Amino acid sequence: MDKNIPYKTYLEESEMPKQWYNVRADMKNKPAPLLNPATLKPMTAEELGVVFCDELVDQELNTTDAYIDIPEEIREFYKMYRPSPLVRAYCLEKALGTPAKIYYKFEGNNTSGSHKLNSAIAQAYYAKKQGLKGVTTETGAGQWGTALSMACAYFGLDCKVYMVKVSYEQKPFRREVMRTYGASVTPSPSDTTNVGRKILAEHPGTTGSLGCAISEAVEVAVGSEGYRYVLGSVLNQVLLHQSVIGLESLAAFEKLGEKPDIIIGCAGGGSNLGGLISPFMGQKLRGEADYRFIAVEPASCPSLTRGKYAYDYCDTGMVCPLAKMYTLGSGFIPSANHAGGLRYHGMSSTLSQLYDDKLMEAVSVEQTKVFEAAQQFARIEGILPAPESSHAIRVAIDEALKCKETGEEKTILFGLTGTGYFDMVAYQKFNDGEMSDYIPTDDDLAKGFAGLPKV
Ligand SMILES: Cc1ncc(COP(=O)(O)O)c(C=O)c1O
Repeated sequence: MDKNIPYKTYLEESEMPKQWYNVRADMKNKPAPLLNPATLKPMTAEELGVVFCDELVDQELNTTDAYIDIPEEIREFYKMYRPSPLVRAYCLEKALGTPAKIYYKFEGNNTSGSHKLNSAIAQAYYAKKQGLKGVTTETGAGQWGTALSMACAYFGLDCKVYMVKVSYEQKPFRREVMRTYGASVTPSPSDTTNVGRKILAEHPGTTGSLGCAISEAVEVAVGSEGYRYVLGSVLNQVLLHQSVIGLESLAAFEKLGEKPDIIIGCAGGGSNLGGLISPFMGQKLRGEADYRFIAVEPASCPSLTRGKYAYDYCDTGMVCPLAKMYTLGSGFIPSANHAGGLRYHGMSSTLSQLYDDKLMEAVSVEQTKVFEAAQQFARIEGILPAPESSHAIRVAIDEALKCKETGEEKTILFGLTGTGYFDMVAYQKFNDGEMSDYIPTDDDLAKGFAGLPKV
């Protein structure tokens, strides 16, 4: 153990960021704008304001201000669980016998269990400030729905959650946590919306997807007086809120007199990864420092590594604006044996642009390898990680093992986005040797690509 470096580095409360960092301000090639699906013109603030809260619309469209103030009420809430620790994984390093230094930024240290709370509290705050009655949303594995339910309870807002049916059925306790916080939870697709009824008629017996649940949540928000829709990933505003992860990491490394060489994050819609890398990416874009950034996605839902960079619908019902992103097509649904989270068909436009500009790398990993890493990490470091986070653990371990071969003393940082206590059905499958891998064939992917809009 390096005597100068503690296991956990915490910032003082007073050192917590006072502003979020907006990486788009430093990007030479800005992410492409959202398009109105009817006119194919960039969405205006008025059009977006029908669906989203006004201040969030401003943040979504803001590509010029590098720093945006974090309102005092949100900072007060953040203080309940932030700053989050930057942990030196000494035990893991020792077990791997690697000369690499491994750090993780642990975001599972709040009651909701993941980084999603960083944006949930911001979005609930702006909804409350606008005088709304409530918000609607979708949730897949349930981490976002849990975080948003908690944030809405704090501000006294109603919260309607459309939960992907397979998770609703597999994770009754996750659902009950949301209901305990006061949210209503509906399995999606449902017969409570036009789009849900249409999807059920076309695909009877479907287990649902994030794309379906988004369509339902948007329909309900737009049709209910005093409600707006909020989204837990993909959008620029969400990456902005998640930049607290990267800002704190950067400040903690500066405090330690260290600097990461490789920064790794799992990538679903891109919010934790975008938030973790943003301030470091800013330094790279401004020519102040260099880093390797690695996005890790499941081999069964490989939007960056095998997707197309194109305008696509953000949802299955095609009611949302079009986003230019790496995508598998809005009709793509990962194979039923996929248990490891990260099942969204597209990727944040900001991360898609950075990837297309070769400023970031991406790799895909198979779920049995992900759960092997999760189990190894739990046994060595003690934290039982979320399956999503375990994608980053897998690649952090792989990079550390490469250092063992070459003898390089690299410093690796990865995002440990959450805990996996509600994912025990997936862990059970893995422990019983019943988990399998499915990698979509080119033909499978071609079906998704066939549904891409002609823009
Ligand atoms: C714990 C955890 N990590 C990561 C993700 C991936 O989402 P994102 O790419 O938006 O960070 C999720 C998504 O549900 C999650 O629950």
